[in-house]
Amino acid sequence: MTNVNLIDHPVIQTKLTELRDFTTDHRKFRTLLDEIAGLMVYEVTRDWPTTPKIVQTPLERMTGRVLSRPVTLVPILRAGLGMADGVLKMLPDARMGHLGVYRNEQSLEPVTYYQKLPPDIASTEVLLIDPMLATGGSGSAAVSFLKKAGVTSMKFVCLVASPEGIQTIHRTHPEVPIYTAAIDRELNNKGYILPGLGDAGDRIFGT
Ligand code: URA
Repeated sequence: MTNVNLIDHPVIQTKLTELRDFTTDHRKFRTLLDEIAGLMVYEVTRDWPTTPKIVQTPLERMTGRVLSRPVTLVPILRAGLGMADGVLKMLPDARMGHLGVYRNEQSLEPVTYYQKLPPDIASTEVLLIDPMLATGGSGSAAVSFLKKAGVTSMKFVCLVASPEGIQTIHRTHPEVPIYTAAIDRELNNKGYILPGLGDAGDRIFGT
């Protein structure tokens, strides 16, 4: 599959396995999700452009490198919030936008019910984050929303993706790269990923 980056790292997989375990409580779940999200940042940001910057060390002047563009994180509410702190620890200068998306039960269409984005988001590198890429409906709607806001450089970062969700993003936004720590088998008829880890929002917030 093109444009999907599976971050198959042994440390991430160890933490993900613990996260999937149904006996992992919300406190441990949050910690693990935070750690995995931070570790994923290394791969997700690997191709971001940098700009030379002169730095004076205690001994000499030299040319270092800094990220060329500011960064915006956009968690999809509510489960996306569970990955935000881990990413922010690695990218502490990032701005954070929020997008709330739900599925209309009649039309089955995703509806954006809340949005708050930095005004200059169009000139930033955007990481759209949601732990579970299930049907891809809300993810695809969130990408459309960000494109309308002028975003041209974005990546979709999740923890577990279904083949169906990946197909949906590819079909609707083929240029948007997906980064995930796992591609699971399938969706069940309620839209849960199998084997998955259950409802990520419930497990993060203990609801
Ligand atoms: N959202 C979740 O939290 N879990 C799934 O398995 C699918 C969607």
